[in-house]
Amino acid sequence: MIKKGSPGFWSGFGVALVIGWLAFPRILYRSLEQPVQFSHAIHTGETVGMTCDGCHTFSNDGRFAGIPTLVQCAGCHADVVGETEAEEHFVKEYIKQRREVPWHVYARQPDNAHFSHADHVNVGGIVCERCHGSHGTSGSLRPFEENRISGYSRDIWGANISGVKSNAWEGMKMNDCVACHNENNHRSACLDCHK
Ligand code: HEC
Ligand code: HEC
Ligand code: HEC
Ligand code: HEC
Ligand code: HEC
Repeated sequence: MIKKGSPGFWSGFGVALVIGWLAFPRILYRSLEQPVQFSHAIHTGETVGMTCDGCHTFSNDGRFAGIPTLVQCAGCHADVVGETEAEEHFVKEYIKQRREVPWHVYARQPDNAHFSHADHVNVGGIVCERCHGSHGTSGSLRPFEENRISGYSRDIWGANISGVKSNAWEGMKMNDCVACHNENNHRSACLDCHK
């Protein structure tokens, strides 16, 4: 029998801890490829030179449109204009068939949490990067990681489930919302954010 406190126990415990630490996140999250490889860098960089609001619009009543629909792409991509496989796939499978792209939203919050871009961007004056990092200049889309138990995006908790952050913006869990509200002397009640 292995006694607690014996070297056998501790090395076994250590091995189990390391395996759990490395393996658990892999088991917990399922990786899904995005349906189209979209490059923000091509569209917001020198090649196309668009600004964020060229695609991510606010309507007059303040509603944020979120991810653009095909209408906003069709003008330039009615036919294949470049030579990449990603674009050809996009034009053939979506534009030509008039089928909206079912993007996975990394930042998606649970349905019971209420978030308004107008409050934060237009009223609060907070830049996109503060909450989304460098997504707006990224050259490719990483896989979407879905929590197998809750169905939530891994980005809510941040890539590192231990809670240790490597970026100021990484993750958007309840504590992060509340921390910034406190910094801004903006006290919110449960029902301001939850319905
Ligand atoms: C040509 C249109 C276009 C322009 C211009 C554009 N975007 Fe996007 N954006 C998209 C599309 C398509 C998606 C969905 C695919 C994806 O997640 O990248 C998206 C998704 C996003 C997301 C959502 C990520 C998530 O949580 O799933 C963020 C954040 C974003 N864009 C930020 C920006 C910023 C910041 C800029 C300006 C620097 C910008 N975008 C300019 C088309 C555009
Ligand atoms: C103002 C014109 C314009 C608009 C609007 C536009 N694109 Fe593009 N897009 C381009 C150009 C130019 C390229 C680069 C073509 C090349 O040289 O490969 C490109 C490239 C692409 C590619 C290939 C990316 C890669 O990594 O190879 C995809 C996919 C794409 N666009 C999707 C979209 C989607 C989705 C939208 C709408 C949300 C959109 N585009 C809106 C001009 C545009
Ligand atoms: C204060 C933090 C914050 C700021 C600033 C912010 N976002 Fe977001 N964004 C979020 C959150 C949280 C979500 C998820 C909302 C949800 O699921 O209801 C989100 C979702 C999105 C989505 C996906 C929307 C959808 O449901 O399809 C896009 C696109 C996006 N943001 C783009 C932007 C752009 C572009 C800017 C700058 C103009 C910006 N965001 C500024 C926090 C922020
Ligand atoms: C970077 C700072 C920051 C982050 C992160 C942030 N907020 Fe806010 N939020 C603000 C500020 C500032 C305001 C006040 C804007 C105004 O009305 O002047 C605000 C206002 C709000 C409001 C308006 C209602 C109210 O009075 O409380 C809601 C709801 C809200 N935030 C929800 C969220 C949620 C949910 C998240 C996380 C997903 C979040 N916020 C993340 C800064 C932030
Ligand atoms: C500033 C906005 C904000 C405030 C204020 C807030 N929450 Fe949240 N809450 C969120 C967001 C965003 C999430 C989803 C991300 C997460 O799970 O951390 C969440 C998640 C939760 C969840 C888990 C729900 C699920 O589906 O996983 C519970 C329970 C909860 N909040 C309860 C509360 C209670 C009780 C209060 C008041 C003491 C409160 N919240 C105040 C933004 C807020």
